[in-house]
Amino acid sequence: MASEKSGDAVVDMRSDTLTQPTEAMREAMVRAEVGDDVYGEDPTVNELERLAAERLGMEAALFVPSGTMGNLISVMAHCGRGDEMILGAEAHIFYYEQGGSAALGGVHPRTLPNRADGTLDLAQVEAAVREDNAHYPVSRLLALENTQNRCGGRVLTPEYMAAAADLAHAHGLRLHVDGARIWNAAVALGVPPARLLRGADSVSACLSKGLSAPVGSVVAGNREFVARARRLRKAVGGGMRQAGVIAAAGIVALNEMVDRLAEDHANAQRLARGLATLDGVSVDPAAVQTNLVYFHLDRPIAAALCATLAERGVLMSPTGADSIRAVTHRHVGSGDIAHVLTMFSDVLRAKAA
Ligand SMILES: Cc1ncc(COP(=O)(O)O)c(C=O)c1O
Repeated sequence: MASEKSGDAVVDMRSDTLTQPTEAMREAMVRAEVGDDVYGEDPTVNELERLAAERLGMEAALFVPSGTMGNLISVMAHCGRGDEMILGAEAHIFYYEQGGSAALGGVHPRTLPNRADGTLDLAQVEAAVREDNAHYPVSRLLALENTQNRCGGRVLTPEYMAAAADLAHAHGLRLHVDGARIWNAAVALGVPPARLLRGADSVSACLSKGLSAPVGSVVAGNREFVARARRLRKAVGGGMRQAGVIAAAGIVALNEMVDRLAEDHANAQRLARGLATLDGVSVDPAAVQTNLVYFHLDRPIAAALCATLAERGVLMSPTGADSIRAVTHRHVGSGDIAHVLTMFSDVLRAKAA
């Protein structure tokens, strides 16, 4: 499927969450058969959960309103209050979810530095596992993120994921994967998502980012995990009723929108290569593996640059005084990348003058 513009001249690269539902999604939403999902009686939600479990290689899945809720209830399903979770200091769960797993679940975060490729050093993970001692919390969970957003959308390989799962299990820990963009990782590596999750005990995967569904994520794992997650979803207010109306779009997302992510990755590459030729910009195109392009400027002008670009209809997010994130998605075509590069280089030149 070709990239679709959202209908105006703005090229909005702040996030892939901005994608609009496709026509096929809107039609499926209108036609969706629905029931009360808290009673387990919404056939469309049930079908989405069956399909998601199959795609993710898990026994069962649960539809949730957001990736944040998916991570929260997964962590709470694995850990009791006072238990410890080992995760990257750059993890979305640690960085961007208001510390919800600590605030609401009482789960103690033990952060380790993410390496530039998004991974955690497994020797450091092993060293961080607590021994049985009355002074310590109990190490219960290892959480990884694939793709790793704050490390530039880096992809963690099936070999690394399997080694991490083996290590976690050898020490009695479970492995949760924040797979908000697991579909991007799978497409970038040319493997099914299930291959990346072999050995993982749970995953939370978004339908509403590059896959373009308007709402929702799925969490998946074995039946016992999903039963616990279902109870927790109700406790945190995520039990939805005739949710088939939105689950219908999720089914289209899984059936029609995964393969085209390769286009977003190619456009991210185009953007990174173009930016790399500009004076005052540093970016390593080889490190851009999916749809997230993080780059640096040689001066602290990220906010001012993004503000001027926005006036010209190009939206990106400053991520620090001298760093910017641009995200490719279905509404950013290859022609838009050429346009963005021209705008960017003009604005940069004007700021330098
Ligand atoms: C890696 C990662 N995990 C989780 C989330 C949370 O998803 P949501 O915005 O649906 O809560 C995001 C959102 O950007 C994300 O990038």
